[in-house]
Amino acid sequence: MAVRHTSGASAAANAMHELFPGARLIVAANRAPYRRSLGPDGEPRWERPAGGLTAALDPLMQGFGGVWIAAQPGEGQDLRVPPEAPRYAVEVLGVPVETYRAYYSGYANAGLWPLCHNLVERAHFRPSDWSSYRHVNRLFAERIAKVAKPEDIVFLHDYQLAMVPGYLRGLGYTGPIAHFWHIPWPPTVVLRLLPERRLLLQGLLQADWLGFQTDDSVDAFAAAARKELGARMMRDADGVRLLYQGRVTRLAAVPISIDTARVEEIARAPVTRERIEKLRSRLGLQDASLLLGVDRLDYTKGIPARLDGFTRLLARYPSLHGRVQFLQVGVPTRTEIRDYRRLAIAVRRRVSDINRRYGRPGWRPVRLVERNLTLDQLVALYRLADVAVVSSLYDGLNLVAKEYVAARVDGEGALCLSETAGAYQELRDAFPLSPLSPERVAEGLARALFSSPEERERRMAKLRAAVAANTIHTWLERVLRGLHEAAPQLSGENVTPV
Ligand code: G6P
Repeated sequence: MAVRHTSGASAAANAMHELFPGARLIVAANRAPYRRSLGPDGEPRWERPAGGLTAALDPLMQGFGGVWIAAQPGEGQDLRVPPEAPRYAVEVLGVPVETYRAYYSGYANAGLWPLCHNLVERAHFRPSDWSSYRHVNRLFAERIAKVAKPEDIVFLHDYQLAMVPGYLRGLGYTGPIAHFWHIPWPPTVVLRLLPERRLLLQGLLQADWLGFQTDDSVDAFAAAARKELGARMMRDADGVRLLYQGRVTRLAAVPISIDTARVEEIARAPVTRERIEKLRSRLGLQDASLLLGVDRLDYTKGIPARLDGFTRLLARYPSLHGRVQFLQVGVPTRTEIRDYRRLAIAVRRRVSDINRRYGRPGWRPVRLVERNLTLDQLVALYRLADVAVVSSLYDGLNLVAKEYVAARVDGEGALCLSETAGAYQELRDAFPLSPLSPERVAEGLARALFSSPEERERRMAKLRAAVAANTIHTWLERVLRGLHEAAPQLSGENVTPV
């Protein structure tokens, strides 16, 4: 696997060179960037998830070296990657199955996940889950403390690892720590439902730099730190700093992005053109418009109301019968949690209801594809979709919205985007969607479908400019620059509360 240095990637690499000479990246995230299993022939088989985070960090880790620490239930794994020309280490912590379940399916995904998405009735906080969450966070911190030197950069990810910065400082680690919170930070009234909120806030405030997707999350975190811990807030041109127990933590809204160049490259490839034509005839789209949803089957994504909205659209506009098709890609996720299994059932039921009610020979209004598609397959679908529908109830960011826009190298297509998805802050030229009520969803879809080609092109041009301006590589560069300014051991900066 070659090290890809797009111009964006080298901007992040330059920042690393310039600001952190001699540093390696020590990344900790619940999931590993590479997986190795044994194929049926007994030979090792490698998988490399196509996620944006890996796309950004992998070239940097290959260039500067480092360790990526992750966790999984059962046995751990120590890998050197990329497999063909190893440049850095992936250390997957093995966690006893029950402990992992309580940490991942319990505290993280049945507790913090719904709470941070303001879906309070779904959130459960069991004391035993909390103790497993702390245990796994401690394992992460111990491993990091073992491998990280003070001149390295520790870069932590997401709600699964909120306690790690605090534990790491407790173990005497003095180097720079950045933590990026990929999901929304909830308003304080919601956070107060979390029994351990102060411990989480205290843990996170041991990082030098805390990144969020939106200003709303930065403001909500700062308000919680002030109200719950009495932290002092300082605001300057560069954003917000919090002073708590002698340590200053800088907060920043740095929305994550995608590997735009990669998506465009796939979108322009001749093989994608062939794929699009095959799909067009397979789906019977010669005379029909395609509406597309691509999501993990997660209740935050608003899929039932989206399908109900589509039903209303069909009820209201008989002229669309036979002329429009909805393709929903629903990637199975977290199926060990009951709410996720129920959602999958509810979605399947709606799909068959719509098809029974409106379908006719030669026209199946909705198709549900319940599996993970490759980026190549997705890009072909994006190119084919007249309207992409992102109707999340809440969403940290939503990378599908950005992928769709990047894939539209033809400048066509329409993005319907929930106003409560983080991505809407950057992509305000999307057709806005109010995701809660089916009536509003139907209105939003109709607006996009019946808009003039000029309006769609005008909006898409602006969206494409916005996505081009902030790629996963510029994101990483901003993180590195933010961390450099924030880390007192590097900048020696003096802060005065205002
Ligand atoms: C969201 C979270 C990530 C998580 C991903 C997939 O994007 O912010 O931390 O990895 O969902 O969820 P999973 O539970 O499968 O890792």
